[in-house]
Amino acid sequence: MDIVCSQEELKLFERIGAAARKMEVSCYVVGGFVRDKLLGRPTKDVDIVCTGDGIALAQAVSDTFSHKPQVNFFKTFGTAQFRLHGLDVEFVGARKESYSSDSRKPQVEPGTIEDDQLRRDFTINALAVSLNERDYGKLIDPFNGIDDLEQKIIRTPLGPDITFSDDPLRMMRAIRFATQLGFTIIDDVFEAIKRNKERIRIISQERITDELNKIMSAKQPSVGLDLLFRSGLLKEFFPQMVDLCGVEIIEGKGHKDNFYHTLQVIDNTASKSHNLWLRWAALLHDIGKPATKKFEDGHGWTFHGHEVVGERMTPKIFRQLKLPMNENMKYVAKLVALHLRPISLTKEDITDSAMRRLLFDAGEEIDDLMILCESDITSKNRVKVKRYLENFELVKQRLKEVEESDKIRNWQPPISGDEIMGIFNLTPSREVGILKTAIREAILDGVIPNNYDAAYILLVEKAKEINLEPKLNKG
Ligand code: CTP
Repeated sequence: MDIVCSQEELKLFERIGAAARKMEVSCYVVGGFVRDKLLGRPTKDVDIVCTGDGIALAQAVSDTFSHKPQVNFFKTFGTAQFRLHGLDVEFVGARKESYSSDSRKPQVEPGTIEDDQLRRDFTINALAVSLNERDYGKLIDPFNGIDDLEQKIIRTPLGPDITFSDDPLRMMRAIRFATQLGFTIIDDVFEAIKRNKERIRIISQERITDELNKIMSAKQPSVGLDLLFRSGLLKEFFPQMVDLCGVEIIEGKGHKDNFYHTLQVIDNTASKSHNLWLRWAALLHDIGKPATKKFEDGHGWTFHGHEVVGERMTPKIFRQLKLPMNENMKYVAKLVALHLRPISLTKEDITDSAMRRLLFDAGEEIDDLMILCESDITSKNRVKVKRYLENFELVKQRLKEVEESDKIRNWQPPISGDEIMGIFNLTPSREVGILKTAIREAILDGVIPNNYDAAYILLVEKAKEINLEPKLNKG
């Protein structure tokens, strides 16, 4: 494993080393930068630790540039940061830390590089590279982080109970790194997560969700979601998802385990799209199932209306997890509501009109809805999967044809509400709504084509039925 740096990075490190020498302090590159370079992953965050005043070192390095990048600092934490050539460079003095049991706020005192490495979360994040004259470029690896990188193992430098008790967010981080990097959390570290899971409660939801979103953005989010579930952490902050788990059997009939089905759907979606919110729609698509589950005699298990319940649960879950309550939430709720629509069409009712309605209801989201729907086909029964996939292909094909001929996607009514008011000399009223709906329904049902003239004739007919006459001549 080698560290390959760009010319700009190398020049920066030389400057930092020289500035530290002048100040008579030692300094090192540490943490994620070293880890990612060794793994050959792209990284833009450089963390520098010095045995002295990190803020003063940042200022001194900045001063060596003619354009002097602006140094931002946080006196209380003793950290400073500047941006250079797209790199985010952070400085801190080496610290010894101890935490009190009811807060994340550490008590800090100056320490050596070894003290600093010891208080880091994982051995793979505790690697340092010297920028000092005596051993410039030397890797300092007191906990065999290199071995763990090679063996793809997540291990803590201290006993895991201490590491997690110092900062419980690290339990989420362990699972996030395992997911992102494809590493294994060693047993005694995983056992410690199980033991300490309740400590996650002292961490803000925003920080927990940040890690959760990193898990959701990974290539195979199911790895992390399963670890969150098995460690007990998921239940602490997202019990609704845990409720999906389990299989009940009545009269010899079981239903699928909706938790593991959901994980499969998320992975399927992730293999087709990087869109985080589409992945969230996959996570939430069956969230309404536990609340709607029923065993019906002679019929078996049903989950009637779970898509509507799921749609309603979406904003509540977004609020609970401190996810953004904006158009992303609305997008997820909409996909959850519509997730059964494409696949529930059987061969007989894949009519033009059903296709137009699907296009109209899904609007902009039709392509994403189709990805979600295809990802949802996960039965263990191969015959079923084959049948569903064939049906799905048919829906996809018909959708394309109808879209090309009817232009229903992002449909705008050929006659607007304002125009209707003008034609019949109306103020905004119930009548305008009735007429608009009549035009829309006639177009979606294929009674009239999607154009102005056809819509105008229908409009006048419908208006007559509610005793309205056009005041102006068409034209
Ligand atoms: N660190 C830690 N405990 C934490 C957070 C961070 O010990 N709860 C240490 C680790 O040594 C980590 C370094 O601080 O490598 C930088 O943290 P951060 O930038 O949050 O994470 P990275 O490891 O760089 O990874 P990523 O950028 O993917 O978040």
